[in-house]
Amino acid sequence: MDKIIVNGGRKLNGEITVQGAKNSVLPILVATLLVDGVSVIHNCPMLSDVDATIKILQYLGCTVNRENHSITVDSTNVFRDDVPDNLMREMRSSIVFLGGILGRMGRAKLSTPGGCEIGLRPIDLHLSAMEQFGATVTDEDGFLVCSAGENGLQGTRITLSFPSVGATENIILAATCAMGTTIISNAAREPEISDLADFLNRCGAKIRGAGDSTVVIEGVKKLTPAEHTVIPDRIVASTYLIATAMTGGEILINSIIPSHIAPIIQPLRESGCNIVVNKKQVILESPKILKRIRMIRTMPHPGFPTDVQAQIMALTSVADGTSVIVENIFESRFKHIGELLRFGAKIHVEGRMAVVEGVNHLNGANVRATDLRGGSAMILAGLQARGTTEITEIHHIDRGYETPEKTLSELGADIKRVNSNEKQGNA
Ligand code: UD1
Repeated sequence: MDKIIVNGGRKLNGEITVQGAKNSVLPILVATLLVDGVSVIHNCPMLSDVDATIKILQYLGCTVNRENHSITVDSTNVFRDDVPDNLMREMRSSIVFLGGILGRMGRAKLSTPGGCEIGLRPIDLHLSAMEQFGATVTDEDGFLVCSAGENGLQGTRITLSFPSVGATENIILAATCAMGTTIISNAAREPEISDLADFLNRCGAKIRGAGDSTVVIEGVKKLTPAEHTVIPDRIVASTYLIATAMTGGEILINSIIPSHIAPIIQPLRESGCNIVVNKKQVILESPKILKRIRMIRTMPHPGFPTDVQAQIMALTSVADGTSVIVENIFESRFKHIGELLRFGAKIHVEGRMAVVEGVNHLNGANVRATDLRGGSAMILAGLQARGTTEITEIHHIDRGYETPEKTLSELGADIKRVNSNEKQGNA
């Protein structure tokens, strides 16, 4: 098992181009199932979650080729409609295959995705939406079976009780080739939803309003192959901005979409960072001393993203003053706090609220990545801390960050990946 070792205290300085968005590429790869022919997707990050998605596509009958950051999917010969349990378990968000397989095959058989590190992740909204399309949902030996029936999926009006990202994506996937029109109310507005719709529209789908609360999808008979470039990853960009702020450095990030990172710019400015955002770049200059951020509440987009909550908590743990962070999206997304305490952070938790009393500096610690974003917060804390930090269970980090040790080394950090069996000095 690999681990990451960080010797803290180095300022990050420099310029990077951010990877493609994990949360876009996964549903877009699933969407290629609806296309009869060869789709070409560019700017796909090299991540274990992408590898897991490719494995499922291949199992279903797709021919998938990868050349650097471009992935070609030939979906002409899809012949299976099930995803085995071992493949489902490799990726937390594999439920998004439901809409893709059902839309293509008229039937989908998936094992129920279990709980995960950040909460229970129920799928009631996904299932009730499929039923509203006229599909039947049954349980066969622990597998979830969704069948469209003889007349296929029927366009419908669906009002989500919560703007779930995954449910919105599944509905869009199922509606794209359904009979008639589907209207989603209270749809999720995350940028990755618009990216999915952009790809599908390039293939001939008729989707309007993606990125807004109301999305209208007129079903089409078939999709034709297209090329698409995945949007930059706003969460990864946010992580590197915060890393730079915590080390007192300066960074220029290329290839961002300003509106996508807007929710994190305001809190970073409140912490004293000087930030300039232009068309495709963001430049951050750190203050001498970070100030507290009075209150952060995670919310659906365009609110503050839950996927940046752990990283901003690492920042507030070394800011001057007391900050309050409320997690509104996932019920147990505070697992990183126990690890942050090992660095000497002062954090008190009360239900969904964390009160963070900033300390002058953190001290290097032996910690583990509790989940993907919690893991990235360990790296940030290690970069700021005095001394050496060892992070284990970094497979969580590899789900969402493409070689973070390389990017951060290029920015001046003292960070490396070693195999747990190797001695630190030999790495
Ligand atoms: C997606 C993102 C994840 C991000 C999250 C919120 C991907 C691959 N993952 O996850 O990185 O943290 O959005 O921005 O895009 N819920 C239900 N019933 C359902 C579905 C969801 O109660 O049927 C609840 C969840 O338990 C959670 C909340 O709704 O509390 C948000 O979940 P959702 O928006 O669906 O997140 P994901 O799509 O799983």
